[in-house]
Amino acid sequence: MTQEIEIRESVPGDLDLIEKLYPDAFPEEDLLPLVRDLLREQATALSLVAFAGTALAGHVIFTRCDIAGGNEKVALLGPLAVAPSRQRQGIGSAIVRAGMQMLENEGVSHVYVLGDPAYYGRLGFTPEASVAPPYPLPEEWREAWQSKCLHGTMPPVGDTLRVPDPWLQPALWAPEGEQDPD
Ligand SMILES: CC(C)(COP(=O)(O)OP(=O)(O)OC[C@H]1O[C@@H](n2cnc3c(N)ncnc32)[C@H](O)[C@@H]1OP(=O)(O)O)[C@@H](O)C(=O)NCCC(=O)NCCS
Repeated sequence: MTQEIEIRESVPGDLDLIEKLYPDAFPEEDLLPLVRDLLREQATALSLVAFAGTALAGHVIFTRCDIAGGNEKVALLGPLAVAPSRQRQGIGSAIVRAGMQMLENEGVSHVYVLGDPAYYGRLGFTPEASVAPPYPLPEEWREAWQSKCLHGTMPPVGDTLRVPDPWLQPALWAPEGEQDPD
Protein backbone atom coordinates (compact mmCIF):
# COMPACT_ATOMS: atom_id res chain seq x y z
CA MET A 1 0.00 0.00 0.00
CA THR A 2 1.37 3.42 -0.91
CA GLN A 3 0.95 5.87 1.93
CA GLU A 4 0.13 9.46 1.12
CA ILE A 5 3.00 11.90 1.64
CA GLU A 6 2.35 15.41 2.95
CA ILE A 7 4.96 18.02 2.03
CA ARG A 8 4.98 21.33 3.92
CA GLU A 9 7.31 23.91 5.39
CA SER A 10 8.81 22.75 8.66
CA VAL A 11 7.82 24.26 12.01
CA PRO A 12 9.94 24.36 15.21
CA GLY A 13 8.03 21.35 16.55
CA ASP A 14 9.50 19.20 13.74
CA LEU A 15 13.05 19.71 14.97
CA ASP A 16 13.21 16.57 17.15
CA LEU A 17 12.22 14.39 14.19
CA ILE A 18 14.62 16.22 11.85
CA GLU A 19 17.42 15.60 14.37
CA LYS A 20 16.66 11.86 14.27
CA LEU A 21 16.40 11.70 10.48
CA TYR A 22 19.90 12.95 9.61
CA PRO A 23 21.97 10.37 11.52
CA ASP A 24 19.77 7.64 9.98
CA ALA A 25 20.17 8.95 6.43
CA PHE A 26 23.86 9.90 6.82
CA PRO A 27 25.37 7.38 9.27
CA GLU A 28 28.92 8.44 8.38
CA GLU A 29 28.50 12.19 8.26
CA ASP A 30 27.32 14.60 10.96
CA LEU A 31 25.25 17.19 9.15
CA LEU A 32 23.22 18.22 12.18
CA PRO A 33 25.34 21.27 13.12
CA LEU A 34 24.86 22.62 9.58
CA VAL A 35 21.14 21.81 9.61
CA ARG A 36 20.64 23.54 12.98
CA ASP A 37 22.59 26.62 11.86
CA LEU A 38 20.69 26.86 8.59
CA LEU A 39 17.33 26.52 10.34
CA ARG A 40 18.26 29.38 12.67
CA GLU A 41 18.60 31.67 9.63
CA GLN A 42 14.88 32.01 9.22
CA ALA A 43 15.00 34.67 6.52
CA THR A 44 17.19 32.63 4.22
CA ALA A 45 16.11 29.03 4.87
CA LEU A 46 13.27 27.31 3.04
CA SER A 47 12.92 24.09 5.03
CA LEU A 48 10.50 21.44 3.82
CA VAL A 49 9.43 18.22 5.49
CA ALA A 50 7.72 15.21 3.94
CA PHE A 51 5.49 13.26 6.33
CA ALA A 52 3.99 9.82 5.90
CA GLY A 53 1.30 10.02 8.58
CA THR A 54 3.18 11.02 11.74
CA ALA A 55 6.53 9.67 10.49
CA LEU A 56 9.08 12.07 9.04
CA ALA A 57 10.07 10.60 5.67
CA GLY A 58 12.24 13.39 4.28
CA HIS A 59 13.66 16.86 4.76
CA VAL A 60 15.36 19.43 2.58
CA ILE A 61 16.73 22.93 3.07
CA PHE A 62 17.12 25.52 0.34
CA THR A 63 19.17 28.57 1.32
CA ARG A 64 18.23 31.82 -0.37
CA CYS A 65 21.35 33.65 -1.48
CA ASP A 66 22.71 35.85 -4.24
CA ILE A 67 25.62 36.14 -6.60
CA ALA A 68 28.51 38.53 -5.98
CA GLY A 69 28.38 41.22 -8.65
CA GLY A 70 24.72 40.63 -9.52
CA ASN A 71 21.30 41.17 -7.97
CA GLU A 72 19.57 37.95 -8.96
CA LYS A 73 17.66 35.92 -6.36
CA VAL A 74 19.08 32.40 -6.30
CA ALA A 75 19.18 29.48 -3.86
CA LEU A 76 21.49 26.70 -2.72
CA LEU A 77 19.96 23.23 -2.25
CA GLY A 78 21.03 21.06 0.65
CA PRO A 79 21.15 19.11 2.78
CA LEU A 80 18.55 16.62 1.55
CA ALA A 81 17.72 13.48 3.50
CA VAL A 82 15.17 10.70 3.10
CA ALA A 83 14.64 8.07 5.81
CA PRO A 84 16.33 4.80 4.75
CA SER A 85 13.06 2.84 4.89
CA ARG A 86 11.44 5.40 2.56
CA GLN A 87 14.17 5.79 -0.04
CA ARG A 88 13.59 5.12 -3.75
CA GLN A 89 9.90 5.93 -3.47
CA GLY A 90 10.11 9.33 -5.11
CA ILE A 91 10.10 11.31 -1.85
CA GLY A 92 13.47 13.02 -2.39
CA SER A 93 12.45 14.09 -5.88
CA ALA A 94 9.02 15.26 -4.72
CA ILE A 95 10.34 17.39 -1.88
CA VAL A 96 13.01 18.99 -4.10
CA ARG A 97 10.45 19.74 -6.82
CA ALA A 98 8.05 21.23 -4.26
CA GLY A 99 10.80 23.52 -2.94
CA MET A 100 11.82 24.62 -6.42
CA GLN A 101 8.19 25.50 -7.23
CA MET A 102 7.95 27.66 -4.09
CA LEU A 103 11.22 29.39 -4.91
CA GLU A 104 10.16 30.00 -8.49
CA ASN A 105 6.94 31.58 -7.20
CA GLU A 106 8.96 34.05 -5.12
CA GLY A 107 11.18 35.03 -8.05
CA VAL A 108 14.24 32.85 -7.49
CA SER A 109 15.82 32.28 -10.90
CA HIS A 110 18.45 29.58 -10.31
CA VAL A 111 19.09 26.81 -7.81
CA TYR A 112 22.62 25.51 -7.17
CA VAL A 113 23.66 22.22 -5.63
CA LEU A 114 26.81 20.31 -4.81
CA GLY A 115 25.75 16.70 -5.13
CA ASP A 116 25.73 13.51 -7.16
CA PRO A 117 24.99 14.33 -10.83
CA ALA A 118 23.45 10.88 -11.21
CA TYR A 119 20.72 11.97 -8.81
CA TYR A 120 20.36 15.69 -9.47
CA GLY A 121 20.58 15.25 -13.24
CA ARG A 122 17.23 13.44 -13.03
CA LEU A 123 15.79 16.61 -11.50
CA GLY A 124 17.04 18.78 -14.35
CA PHE A 125 20.33 19.99 -12.88
CA THR A 126 23.30 20.38 -15.22
CA PRO A 127 26.98 21.12 -14.49
CA GLU A 128 27.53 24.79 -13.63
CA ALA A 129 30.60 26.53 -15.04
CA SER A 130 29.95 30.27 -14.90
CA VAL A 131 28.92 30.84 -11.27
CA ALA A 132 31.55 29.51 -8.88
CA PRO A 133 30.85 27.96 -5.47
CA PRO A 134 32.06 29.91 -2.39
CA TYR A 135 35.28 27.85 -2.26
CA PRO A 136 37.23 26.27 -5.11
CA LEU A 137 36.32 22.63 -5.56
CA PRO A 138 38.75 19.77 -5.98
CA GLU A 139 38.90 18.43 -9.53
CA GLU A 140 36.93 15.28 -8.69
CA TRP A 141 33.99 17.39 -7.46
CA ARG A 142 33.73 19.72 -10.46
CA GLU A 143 30.91 17.74 -12.05
CA ALA A 144 29.08 17.75 -8.73
CA TRP A 145 28.60 21.54 -8.84
CA GLN A 146 25.32 21.95 -10.71
CA SER A 147 22.50 24.37 -11.31
CA LYS A 148 18.96 24.49 -12.56
CA CYS A 149 17.27 27.49 -14.13
CA LEU A 150 13.77 28.02 -12.68
CA HIS A 151 12.75 30.85 -14.96
CA GLY A 152 14.26 33.09 -17.56
CA THR A 153 16.86 32.05 -20.05
CA MET A 154 19.68 34.45 -19.27
CA PRO A 155 22.55 33.17 -17.17
CA PRO A 156 22.78 35.19 -13.95
CA VAL A 157 25.13 38.17 -13.79
CA GLY A 158 28.06 37.76 -11.41
CA ASP A 159 30.67 35.17 -10.75
CA THR A 160 30.51 33.63 -7.27
CA LEU A 161 27.65 32.34 -5.18
CA ARG A 162 27.38 34.41 -1.98
CA VAL A 163 26.09 32.29 0.89
CA PRO A 164 25.19 33.04 4.53
CA ASP A 165 27.54 32.14 7.40
CA PRO A 166 26.54 28.50 7.99
CA TRP A 167 27.84 27.63 4.52
CA LEU A 168 31.13 29.50 4.99
CA GLN A 169 33.04 26.43 6.13
CA PRO A 170 35.65 25.06 3.72
CA ALA A 171 35.07 21.55 5.11
CA LEU A 172 31.59 21.55 3.55
CA TRP A 173 33.12 22.07 0.11
CA ALA A 174 35.89 19.50 0.09
CA PRO A 175 36.10 15.73 0.55
CA GLU A 176 37.10 14.69 4.04
CA GLY A 177 40.84 14.99 4.66
CA GLU A 178 41.42 17.37 1.75
CA GLN A 179 40.66 20.65 3.48
CA ASP A 180 43.25 23.35 3.55
CA PRO A 181 44.19 23.71 7.24
CA ASP A 182 44.05 27.50 6.82
C1 LIG B 1 19.76 10.58 -2.10
C2 LIG B 1 18.35 10.62 -1.53
C3 LIG B 1 18.04 12.00 -0.98
C4 LIG B 1 17.38 10.28 -2.66
O1 LIG B 1 16.05 10.35 -2.18
P1 LIG B 1 15.02 9.23 -2.61
O2 LIG B 1 13.70 9.62 -2.09
O3 LIG B 1 15.56 7.91 -2.20
O4 LIG B 1 15.12 9.37 -4.19
P2 LIG B 1 13.95 9.25 -5.24
O5 LIG B 1 13.04 8.14 -4.86
O6 LIG B 1 13.37 10.58 -5.48
O7 LIG B 1 14.78 8.85 -6.52
C5 LIG B 1 15.31 7.58 -6.54
C6 LIG B 1 16.24 7.44 -7.69
O8 LIG B 1 17.37 8.23 -7.50
C7 LIG B 1 18.53 7.42 -7.66
N1 LIG B 1 19.30 7.59 -6.44
C8 LIG B 1 18.90 7.45 -5.17
N2 LIG B 1 19.91 7.74 -4.34
C9 LIG B 1 20.95 8.06 -5.11
C10 LIG B 1 22.27 8.44 -4.86
N3 LIG B 1 22.76 8.57 -3.62
N4 LIG B 1 23.06 8.70 -5.90
C11 LIG B 1 22.59 8.58 -7.15
N5 LIG B 1 21.36 8.21 -7.45
C12 LIG B 1 20.55 7.96 -6.45
C13 LIG B 1 18.17 6.02 -7.86
O9 LIG B 1 18.61 5.67 -9.16
C14 LIG B 1 16.67 6.00 -7.79
O10 LIG B 1 16.11 5.56 -8.97
P3 LIG B 1 15.70 4.03 -9.16
O11 LIG B 1 14.97 3.64 -7.92
O12 LIG B 1 14.86 4.09 -10.37
O13 LIG B 1 16.99 3.33 -9.36
C15 LIG B 1 18.15 9.57 -0.40
O14 LIG B 1 18.42 8.31 -0.94
C16 LIG B 1 19.01 9.81 0.81
O15 LIG B 1 18.61 10.54 1.72
N6 LIG B 1 20.19 9.18 0.84
C17 LIG B 1 21.10 9.30 1.94
C18 LIG B 1 21.57 10.69 2.15
C19 LIG B 1 22.23 11.27 0.91
O16 LIG B 1 23.05 10.65 0.28
N7 LIG B 1 21.88 12.55 0.61
C20 LIG B 1 22.58 13.30 -0.39
C21 LIG B 1 21.80 13.63 -1.58
S1 LIG B 1 22.97 13.87 -2.93
